[in-house]
Amino acid sequence: MENILIEKQDNLAIVTINRPTKLNALNKATIEELHQAFTDLNNDTATKVIVLTGSGEKAFVAGADISEFAHFSVSEGEQLAAKGQELLFDFVQNLSTPVIAAVNGFALGGGLELAMSCHFRIASTNAKMGLPEVTLGVIPGYGGTQRLAQLIGKGRAMELIMTANMIDAETAKSYGLVNHVVPQEELLDLAKSIGAKISNNSSVAIAKAIEAINANFEDGVNGFATEIKNFGICFGTEDFKEGTTAFLEKRKAVFTGK
Ligand code: COA
Repeated sequence: MENILIEKQDNLAIVTINRPTKLNALNKATIEELHQAFTDLNNDTATKVIVLTGSGEKAFVAGADISEFAHFSVSEGEQLAAKGQELLFDFVQNLSTPVIAAVNGFALGGGLELAMSCHFRIASTNAKMGLPEVTLGVIPGYGGTQRLAQLIGKGRAMELIMTANMIDAETAKSYGLVNHVVPQEELLDLAKSIGAKISNNSSVAIAKAIEAINANFEDGVNGFATEIKNFGICFGTEDFKEGTTAFLEKRKAVFTGK
């Protein structure tokens, strides 16, 4: 991998987008590498949580790589959005392994879209977030018009996208866009401690919960029906037997994720 770093610690994998001289802008190669990394980590039963962050102290991701698409035609533009959504943005959202975005600086355009595709977000105090695409004569194409409105409401999303304003971490927290804000040097420790808590729980149940929560946002899918189905599926798992038995025996459950 040329553009990303992967570090495994216990049940946690930290994926770092590593193009600091380009503020970690997402070029085609980086998107493909991230797709491969998320595929591999999702298949690795030892990895229970993935943390996604950017290298350096300045940026999470400063957007899609503008130099790659500046000359694109209408059909190439559409292809760029479709392929990116399939390979990375929808892919991350629907991953069964939880992905936490640790937003350590600028998360602009495709960078904020990537953070919003993660299951939830934490940020450092210096983080700045926005969707500045209309300043380039284009709109967010990696799910930003949809996910921003889902996360912070339609009116705020309309204003942020139309003005191209950047918001700081505290404002993002007050909007519900990020869950926690801490100084930059504490960001990865916070991600790790949240990750460790998640890792103690049943990974098969967590995967079913992700699917049920996401179902609310999918066209033609009934979220309540998905919840009922997935609730039932959990009763057939070893983790359910272990979790309920451990509770009744007054001991800590040891989950296998099966
Ligand atoms: N695509 C390609 N390259 C990018 C980039 C992007 N989205 N964002 C930053 N870079 C590159 C810059 O071109 C520059 O490269 P260079 O040193 O080879 O010239 C390098 O990263 C550093 O960026 P720079 O603009 O010099 O840093 P800054 O501190 O002055 O400004 C930002 C930081 C984030 C405000 C500014 O880089 C920016 O506005 N980036 C584009 C944001 C954007 O519109 N994203 C949406 C894309 S759809």
